[in-house]
Amino acid sequence: MSPADYTDFLNELEPTVTELLDRHTSQAKEWFPHELVPWSRGRDFEDGWEWSPDETQLSSEVRSSLFVNLLTEDNLPYYFRTIEAMFGRDSSWGEWVRRWTAEEGRHSIVIRDYLTVTRTIDPVELERARMAQVMCGEVPEPDLPHDGLVYVALQELATRIAHHNTGKVIDDPVGYAVMKRVASDENRHYLFYRDLTSRAIELDPSGMVLAIERQVRGFEMPGTGIVDFASHARAIAKTGIYDFQVHHDQILAPVVVRHWGIEDLTGLSDEAERARDELLTYIERVGKAGRRQTERRQRIAERDAQLASV
Ligand SMILES: [Fe+2]
Ligand SMILES: [Fe+2]
Repeated sequence: MSPADYTDFLNELEPTVTELLDRHTSQAKEWFPHELVPWSRGRDFEDGWEWSPDETQLSSEVRSSLFVNLLTEDNLPYYFRTIEAMFGRDSSWGEWVRRWTAEEGRHSIVIRDYLTVTRTIDPVELERARMAQVMCGEVPEPDLPHDGLVYVALQELATRIAHHNTGKVIDDPVGYAVMKRVASDENRHYLFYRDLTSRAIELDPSGMVLAIERQVRGFEMPGTGIVDFASHARAIAKTGIYDFQVHHDQILAPVVVRHWGIEDLTGLSDEAERARDELLTYIERVGKAGRRQTERRQRIAERDAQLASV
């Protein structure tokens, strides 16, 4: 496809963008971060105060998840540059991108206020990490709009799952309510991109299968660029908040295989046929790796429980 073809592709998608934007705005309810934050638990930070893990009951793994989730939200508004460059600033595309950016900003506000008031995470470490994350400017820059659509659909769903699962292990109903509210926004973002991707598959099935194959294989949680991301990602997998099994069972199988109906697409080019075969094999491999990872974790937990009872 030449760049002119992308313009046609984006123009053909535009009526669906308008429809999905209308659906989004009619379903999204206005909400306010300040109403969810337990301010009465807060107090001033005295001069020389230093955070210690005694401030919280949460494990370092759960704190890793909150840390990564928040820094991801801090950085998302900067995806605006990529998304606007890819989809354009005019028409419903531009309107959607600006709305999305504003909503993402609200997520970091509410999570940061909650974590600061409850002193769950070292605010100094957090602020330094935010500066480093935003200053390194690491945002995905896919070559084609096809890849961009697939990436954001997968990313929104992954983020929704990570927020919701983190909320469940915070062991604080107020914290759970914060994460659940953010996760429900992510769900609406995901539905927007998922359904837009379905339409894009109708318009250009071969181009989209190639993009899905590239994006699924190269997928990384949007926290890449965060200081020590790899060790945080390992900690998060250890808790089961987001691991290979979650990625396979809640994203790849239900969305890529079933919702987008990859197996049933017809009229694909030879290259796209090959990409589809490789994609399906890859997804199966992720599923197997996920089951092995979960079994290993269960064995370790059982062994630890036995040792603790001796
Ligand atoms: Fe978000
Ligand atoms: Fe989102």
